[in-house]
Amino acid sequence: MKRLDLFPITTKIENDRLTIAGHDLKLLAEENQTPLYIYDRATLDAAVTEYKTALASSYPGAGSITYAGKAFLCLALAQWTRSQNLTVDCTGEGEIAITVAAGMPRENILVHGVNKSEADLRSAAQHAGTIVVDNLQELSQLSQYELKNTELWLRLLPGMAVSTHHAHTQTGQHDSKFGMTREEIMEAANFCKQHGLPLKGIHFHQGSNFRDPEPLLPAIEIALDLSKEIGFQSEWHFCPGGGWGVAYHEDELPHPSIESYVRGIAESVVEGCQARGLELPHLHLEPGRSLVARAGVAVYRVGAVKKRVNKTWLLTDGGMADNPRFALYGARYSCLPVSGVGLERSERVSIAGPFCESGDILIEDLPMPKVEAGDLIAIPVAGAYHLSMASNYNGARKPIVLWLEEGKAQVIQRRETTRDLLDRDERLLLCDQH
Ligand SMILES: Cc1ncc(COP(=O)(O)O)c(C=O)c1O
Repeated sequence: MKRLDLFPITTKIENDRLTIAGHDLKLLAEENQTPLYIYDRATLDAAVTEYKTALASSYPGAGSITYAGKAFLCLALAQWTRSQNLTVDCTGEGEIAITVAAGMPRENILVHGVNKSEADLRSAAQHAGTIVVDNLQELSQLSQYELKNTELWLRLLPGMAVSTHHAHTQTGQHDSKFGMTREEIMEAANFCKQHGLPLKGIHFHQGSNFRDPEPLLPAIEIALDLSKEIGFQSEWHFCPGGGWGVAYHEDELPHPSIESYVRGIAESVVEGCQARGLELPHLHLEPGRSLVARAGVAVYRVGAVKKRVNKTWLLTDGGMADNPRFALYGARYSCLPVSGVGLERSERVSIAGPFCESGDILIEDLPMPKVEAGDLIAIPVAGAYHLSMASNYNGARKPIVLWLEEGKAQVIQRRETTRDLLDRDERLLLCDQH
C-alpha cells in the first residue's frame, strides 16, 4: 500500500506539505509545539459508520458497537462516542469517571478489568449498565453489592489466541491471565443463580491487532455451548471482544476490511444459535484500535541527526513516553516528513526519542527523504495505545492533542506542564530540619 494511505482519510499533500482536514500540519506544529497529536474527526466517523453498516446488514438481531476506551480516552473522545451512540468499555474507576463526565447514559457504560479493585467495583455498580466479570473472586465481591440497574456478563477464556505480531498482544490462550475457564464459567453461572445475580451475557477477547478471524470461530462455538448450558433465553448478550487490526506500515496489506470481519462473526453467531435452538442474542462488538488508530497522527520535531555505522538516527522530541509500543512489543511504524513529502526517499533512517533508554525507538530502518535537524515528521496510525499508555518518564509532559475538522482545530487535551508534574507531590517533612 501507499504510505500516504496509512494517514487519516482527509490527508492531502498541498504544496508538498501534509494537510489533514484542510489544516497544514506545519502551521499546527508551529502554533502548538511538538510533540503534537491530532485526531481527524472524519476518519473516526467513517470507521464507526463502517462498523454500524456492516452489523446492520449482516446481523438480523439487535447489535451494537462498544468502543474499547483503553485505546484512547479523554473527555472529548467520550463525548464523541456518546454522539455516535456507542457504548464505552471502561477499565476501572478512572475511565468510568471520564465517561460519566461526558454524560454517557448508564446503559452505555460497560466495565472490564482483570483484577478490579474494590473502588473499581463500587464505581461500576454505581455507574455502569454492565460489568464483565473476570473471575470467581470478583463475582463473590460483587454479590455484596446491590446491583439494581447493572447486569453481569462472564468473561470466558476460550483457550485459543488469535494470531498477532507479539505474544504480549494475545489474551485468549490457555495460560492467559484473562477470564475464566469453561469449568469456572459454569461455577460462576451457578453462583449467580444461587445468589439471584443478574447474569445476562457472555464475553471473550482473544487478542489485539489480528487480521485473520479464523480462531474466533471455534471460540464462538465454545461460548455458544456454554450459553446453552447456562440457559440464556431471551434478552441475552454475546460479545466476541474486539482486536480487529489495522495496517501500520506500507509493507503490510491494506487496512483489513471491517465488513468481512463483522459478517464472519455475525454469520457464525446466527448459525450457531440456530443449531443449538438458542434465541439470537444482542450481539456486541468491542473494537478499540480499528476505530481510532488511523484517525491519530503524531507530529515530532527532529532535534539532531546522528550518523553511525550502518545507521542514521533522527532524534525526535517525543518517543517512548508518548508511544511505548516499540519498547513494549516491537511495533512497526512508518512516517513522512511534514514538508517535502514528495522528495525521493533516498536515505534509510531509524527514529528515536529523547529518553534515557536504548529501547526508546519509534521506527527502525525506514526509507525517507533527507531530513535535517529542525524538520518535522508525522507518524500515522498513532491514535490507539499511544497516549493511553503515555508516561512521565524522564519528567516528560504528555503531549497536546488537537481535534481536527474542516475549518476547526480544537485543543482537546492541553500539554502537561512541569506544574502538573509537581501537583501530586508533597514536600517531605524531614525531622532533622529545624
Ligand atoms: C476486553 C477487550 N476488549 C476490546 C479490546 C480492544 O482491542 P483492540 O483495540 O485491538 O480492538 C481489548 C484490548 O485489549 C480488550 O482487552
